[in-house]
Amino acid sequence: MTPAKILIVDDEIELERLLKQRLRKKIRAKEIELIFSQNGKDALEKLEKYPEIEVVLTDINMPEMDGLTLLEELFKSDRHIKAVVVSAYGDMQNIRSAMHSGAFDFLTKPIDFEDLTITINRTLESAKQFKENLHRLQEAQLQLIQNEKMATLGQLVAGVAHEINNPIGFISGNIDMAKNSVKDVIEHLRLYREKYPEPGDDIEKDADRIDVEYLMEDLPKMLAEMHGGAERIINISHSLRAFSRSDTANKVLANIYEGIDSTLMILQHRLKANNKRPAIQVIKEYGETVPVKCYMGQLNQVFMNILSNAIDALDEASQERSYAEMKDRPNTIAITARPREEAGIFEIKIKDNASGMPEEIKALIFDQLFTTKPVGKGTGLGLSISRQIIVESHGGTLDCQSVVGEGTEFAIAIPLDAK
Ligand SMILES: Nc1ncnc2c1ncn2[C@@H]1O[C@H](COP(=O)(O)OP(=O)(O)OP(=O)(O)O)[C@@H](O)[C@H]1O
Ligand SMILES: [Mg+2]
Repeated sequence: MTPAKILIVDDEIELERLLKQRLRKKIRAKEIELIFSQNGKDALEKLEKYPEIEVVLTDINMPEMDGLTLLEELFKSDRHIKAVVVSAYGDMQNIRSAMHSGAFDFLTKPIDFEDLTITINRTLESAKQFKENLHRLQEAQLQLIQNEKMATLGQLVAGVAHEINNPIGFISGNIDMAKNSVKDVIEHLRLYREKYPEPGDDIEKDADRIDVEYLMEDLPKMLAEMHGGAERIINISHSLRAFSRSDTANKVLANIYEGIDSTLMILQHRLKANNKRPAIQVIKEYGETVPVKCYMGQLNQVFMNILSNAIDALDEASQERSYAEMKDRPNTIAITARPREEAGIFEIKIKDNASGMPEEIKALIFDQLFTTKPVGKGTGLGLSISRQIIVESHGGTLDCQSVVGEGTEFAIAIPLDAK
């Protein structure tokens, strides 16, 4: 447990020694940590330096900046701090002012140490409650945003897939028939030419004009290519539908590999070569297929977030690398996925060889709204949503390892025996 930091602001040096002595048990048990300051101005600096401070205990009459001004400054900022004011017994006016401006409680001097302990405990408890409620509220907000994001994206994708499905169905069906018909017509034409090798000027001229030899050879090839194209569109449409599986109500048994593949298909345009870098190589290593009980649509959202981050990181790293360097050590995303029965999990690891991140950044990436990307590019929600989906919705784990200059790996584990 990290100790709760309490800032004590008082110009009486005596108090520091007394408090340290009276609260030594709590300090030694690492329940609390005291930080001291002699006036309001210095207190503001300390607050800046220690963003973890949750409780401030301040005197009112002090040099440089008094306690009331300190409180005003404190409540102007968007920090959630519980303040307790200390003033002389009978200084009701100041105490009232402090309470009006938002102080949580007050103590009177000379300090009654039993009262002090009770007040500090009560204040810490209230700060803790506040933090928990805030956290709960943020989680709920995140859930709403995520549902909204998923629902909108899912509906859109499913809608497009559905719209594509029918027309591509009859294009593909007709191409199949057309291939046979064209084959028959060409055979028939051959037969004709054998039987009537000299059909007369008009027909020979026209055959020249349309280059009939070439057409007879090329037409089947053209149809084969069209067939290939139609097949690809059908695959995309299947992927879109697999990706947008909106199984929000219940977990269903699903094939995780299909989820990853459909997400990769959707991200294909971002993996391709562009004028800044060659194509990103995706190296996949899949284990045996076991159905996993999960919200597949939500997991796809996680794959999407982590893969998009990897592509962003590779794009950024590529700006500093020459084409030759990139040919030498290509941009890659390695995906390994497999069930690990002995550990009771299905494991998915997604690893890029971009620039990695330093420890200070890594410590923050799962925080809501944390982003290092420019405005309009990142909202800082991707990983906090992903963490919520994996940990809260699936009871799994999401971990990150990163080495500066080498790359980053995200490891997802989903329990195999999910309810
Ligand atoms: N593979 C990675 N390599 C390097 N940095 C990464 C990687 N993945 C995430 N990060 C860092 O973590 C931060 C937070 O990621 P997150 O996905 O939560 O938000 P975002 O990508 O910035 O915005 P959003 O996903 O909401 O569009 C990123 O801004 C980036 O600094
Ligand atoms: Mg992201």
